[in-house]
Amino acid sequence: MPYENILVETRGHVGLITLNRPKALNALSDALVTELAAAIDAFEADDEIGCMVLTGSERAFAAGADIKEMASKSYMDVFLSDFITKKWGRAATARKPIIAAVAGYALGGGCELAMMCDFILAADTAKFGQPEITIGTIPGAGGTQRLTRFVGKSKAMEMVLTGRTIDAAEAERSGLVSRIVPAADLVDEALKVAARIASLSRPIVMMAKESVNRAYETTLDEGIRVERRLFHSTFATEDQKEGMAAFAEKREANFKNR
Ligand code: CAA
Repeated sequence: MPYENILVETRGHVGLITLNRPKALNALSDALVTELAAAIDAFEADDEIGCMVLTGSERAFAAGADIKEMASKSYMDVFLSDFITKKWGRAATARKPIIAAVAGYALGGGCELAMMCDFILAADTAKFGQPEITIGTIPGAGGTQRLTRFVGKSKAMEMVLTGRTIDAAEAERSGLVSRIVPAADLVDEALKVAARIASLSRPIVMMAKESVNRAYETTLDEGIRVERRLFHSTFATEDQKEGMAAFAEKREANFKNR
């Protein structure tokens, strides 16, 4: 499918998706979000791809949902179409890992989209915020829930109630991003990390992702049980045998399933 609002490339075993509506600071229009979901579907189905990177431009990862497109929607429009969760949530349901590489603005739906990814690498120029309150609405793509889990109630509440934007350093301090890299190196660094993940055993990577995600959805006891079952499952794979044999033989593991 030809895309008009995103760029899609493969780099080895990594799928790179670049949001590309520069004139609107990558505002997440319906067309863009539809294309993004299709691109993620395609990479999920592609056996050559082991990990994805989602990025924007130097100026903006994404400045939120498209306010101009959204402004005149009625309650019936948004209720009946289940605006915004359905298509938007595709990044959160991917089984292969997705790294968000964020430079510039990640506001509103942009911040929410980054949080749907498995982790966020931030450029030193990154700015995160949930400014919906300033335009008479609230975060609608998981912001009140995911941001609170990342940064805790106090900071999430302040950000959501005031619309205050935080810079990369504050985002790192509060656990929203895994680390900060110089803006010029952001995409290369994200591709390097993604290539590393793609070089590991695909099923074991998927199990690890599934297990970490359980921590956000269940009790500690239940999460520990899920982890133990998945840990046991790794012993049914040839890659566990290969990984541990390679360690004992002091050589690089040659995983079959990647
Ligand atoms: N929707 C539609 N268009 C947007 C947009 C958005 N979210 N953000 C920026 N744009 C457009 C601007 O309208 C402008 O277009 P024109 O040149 O045609 O006027 C262009 O992008 C450049 O933006 P600015 O001129 O405003 O650039 P700036 O550098 O002065 O400011 C900014 C940058 C602070 C990010 C500012 O654009 C801004 O505040 N954007 C809106 C941020 C926002 O409120 N996001 C939340 C949206 S609601 C949401 O996301 C709901 C949800 O939970 C899913």
